[in-house]
Amino acid sequence: MEFVLYEQRGAVGIITINREKALNALNSAVLDELDKTLDAVNQEEVRCLILTGAGQKSFVAGADIGEMSSLTKKEGEAFGKKGNDVFRKLETFPIPVIAAINGFALGGGCEISMSCDIRICSENAVFGQPEVGLGITPGFGGTQRLARIVGVGKAKEMIYGARNIKADEAYRIGLVNNVYPIEELMPAAEKLAGIIAKNAPIAVRNSKKAINEGLDAGMDEAIVIEEKLFGDCFESHDQKEGMAAFMEKRKVEAFLNK
Ligand code: CAA
Repeated sequence: MEFVLYEQRGAVGIITINREKALNALNSAVLDELDKTLDAVNQEEVRCLILTGAGQKSFVAGADIGEMSSLTKKEGEAFGKKGNDVFRKLETFPIPVIAAINGFALGGGCEISMSCDIRICSENAVFGQPEVGLGITPGFGGTQRLARIVGVGKAKEMIYGARNIKADEAYRIGLVNNVYPIEELMPAAEKLAGIIAKNAPIAVRNSKKAINEGLDAGMDEAIVIEEKLFGDCFESHDQKEGMAAFMEKRKVEAFLNK
């Protein structure tokens, strides 16, 4: 593919948005390639994904402004749907996704990171939803996910003011879990992915589903979602092995994703 690189290292898959000359901005071709890349992930072998951007300056500098500049209302809505569909696929992807944010995460860049399960960033990262300064609203989920992650007041301040924030503030408001010097970012992402990949895959995937689906439901419904996904783990090889290892005071031999 031209704009999206994919590499599998053991149980960890690394997706790199690779359009460095445009600071990895998302045009339709990038979105299509991202969609195809997700479809091609080997879900038997891969237990955690990392999403990052090429280079050391930008994660993703937003949706492609050149492509958007001449869209009609109808085309604008369709472009929003295109981004939303891919980001939703990422958000509901069965395997956890870590965003390793290596620089600018603006507009669609901040939005794609918020579709990932966990965000970590480099010290030079800058986050923001600058869309209202371009005469549009955030269009790839920013109005929805930013408020859910950092709270309504902070999200409205950032979006209405088109106010970008640096890594330390992103950490302070809970938009990222950790900040690293740029050269330590990918090793940290791979270490975290490795820790996740060691655990029982069905349990990790069901936890992701339970958290995501439960957050969209009332508590009565949410706990039923959890009960079903909890129950679903039983009778699996990995549940039997995990519990047998505990009771026999030994290490787990292997989680087999079954
Ligand atoms: N779309 C298209 N091209 C972009 C881009 C974008 N979002 N961001 C950067 N680029 C391109 C620039 O046009 C430039 O290309 P040329 O060399 O061909 O001129 C190249 O990337 C390098 O950018 P700069 O020269 O501007 O680099 P800089 O270091 O001076 O500034 C920056 C970096 C502050 C990130 C600046 O590029 C910038 O402000 N980019 C736009 C950020 C933005 O507004 N993002 C939101 C887009 S709208 C959106 O995402 C809508 C949505 O929700 C769906």
